[in-house]
Amino acid sequence: MNCKSVILAAGLGTRMKSSKPKMLHSIGGMPMVWWVLQAVLEATDQRPHMVIGPDDSAVEAFVGDRVHFVIQKERMGTAHALMQTASDLQGSSELVLVINGDMPLLQAGTLRKMIEVQAKNKGPVTILTAKPSKTRGFGRVMRASDGSIREIMEEAHASPEQLAMKEVNVGAYCFHAEWLWSQLPELPPSPKGEYYITDLVGEAVSTGESVGWVEVEQDDEIIGINTRQHLAEAQNAARRRINRRWMLAGVSILDPEGTYLDASVTIGVDSTIMPNTYIQGDSEIGEDCFIGPNSLIIDSSIGDRCKILMSVVKNATLEDEVDIGPFAHLRPGAHLCKGVHMGSFGEVKASKLGPGVRMGHFSYVGDTTIGENTNIGAGTVTCNFDGESKHETIIGENVFIGSDTMLVAPVKLGNGSRTGAGSVVTKDVAENTLVAGAPARAIRKLDKRDK
Ligand code: UD1
Ligand code: MG
Repeated sequence: MNCKSVILAAGLGTRMKSSKPKMLHSIGGMPMVWWVLQAVLEATDQRPHMVIGPDDSAVEAFVGDRVHFVIQKERMGTAHALMQTASDLQGSSELVLVINGDMPLLQAGTLRKMIEVQAKNKGPVTILTAKPSKTRGFGRVMRASDGSIREIMEEAHASPEQLAMKEVNVGAYCFHAEWLWSQLPELPPSPKGEYYITDLVGEAVSTGESVGWVEVEQDDEIIGINTRQHLAEAQNAARRRINRRWMLAGVSILDPEGTYLDASVTIGVDSTIMPNTYIQGDSEIGEDCFIGPNSLIIDSSIGDRCKILMSVVKNATLEDEVDIGPFAHLRPGAHLCKGVHMGSFGEVKASKLGPGVRMGHFSYVGDTTIGENTNIGAGTVTCNFDGESKHETIIGENVFIGSDTMLVAPVKLGNGSRTGAGSVVTKDVAENTLVAGAPARAIRKLDKRDK
């Protein structure tokens, strides 16, 4: 059955006490609106309508053309918000699914079930209900003695007896379209002067129609976000959902309560994630990796069989079999080729370390290219900044940089060259040449005895 959908997202989100739209607050690394949108797209397979406020251009910019936007100029309640889509949607479908934008963890399967129930329902609407452990300000579902739904009572207008009812209105509805578009303009305002979508339920019952329902059993699907506290609860629930998914896909997570994976991250089979690890943004982790504990990986690509121990990695690429840490810091543009070893307290920025490069202890490498199998001694620093601009260092293959060498950029070291411990290299070094001293001067040509 053809089903159009509407996401209501124009509310001011006043209770968030934030300068940004509620829909852009992040859950599992993605704005709240992304979660709702995914679920609705998956359930209906059609481009939804999204009602937003006049100041929500940031929401518009994030969502782009995945939805049809409709602006609600004055916030006059959920039914008024839905009314803004009437001229677009009237006559275009048999069913209309409406979902509150602040219910980010509702799953596509639940929405699909609502569509199925309403497709068979003789009455005009199916609502989503739950009996959660916390009622968190939700409207209450009132039933008659025969079990049929009578109305939805908003918490603000409910009597103590009504508040004692534990069944709540989750905030998703599937309507018979023709009925919806004829009834919606007729709704009277609530005692607060707003127009409530929930009043459509009472309207249906008063004309002898029956109301269908689907009950959500998982508490974690129905966390409505009105406050920062709700946001934290949703973040926890999302984290569990994401971790469960990766464990089912063959990833070991030692402490699912203390592992923070964004919804956008991917991880290969047989990888192990140790506690207190954060993997964020556009990050991909290969197979059979060992990550953590205490690591932060942002927007990075990690190959197979890598080991990242207590480290921070941002906008970096690690090819297969790279191991770093403890306490390594990879900054934007760090590219570690296959088999690179980087030990404790190293920092790499905008540099390519060729296959098999070893950089064992506390070094800084910036704006540098390093050839295959070169060894970077402890305490090596590429002095890439002269106070005004950044300069490049180029180190060849099979080079041996002695401990505590300062490479004053711009500078080039030829293949097979060496620096003595404590060298300050200010001039290019020819191939197979040993330099030492501060500033370093040529001592002799290397020969076979040095290899
Ligand atoms: C609403 C329901 C309540 C339900 C709860 C569950 C009504 C009257 N009440 O209450 O029964 O238990 O959701 O989540 O519907 N919005 C607009 N324009 C407006 C007002 C709201 O687009 O003028 C949007 C909001 O952005 C939000 C959604 O509609 O995504 C719900 O509004 P909100 O103010 O959060 O309603 P609740 O108090 O949570
Ligand atoms: Mg709400």
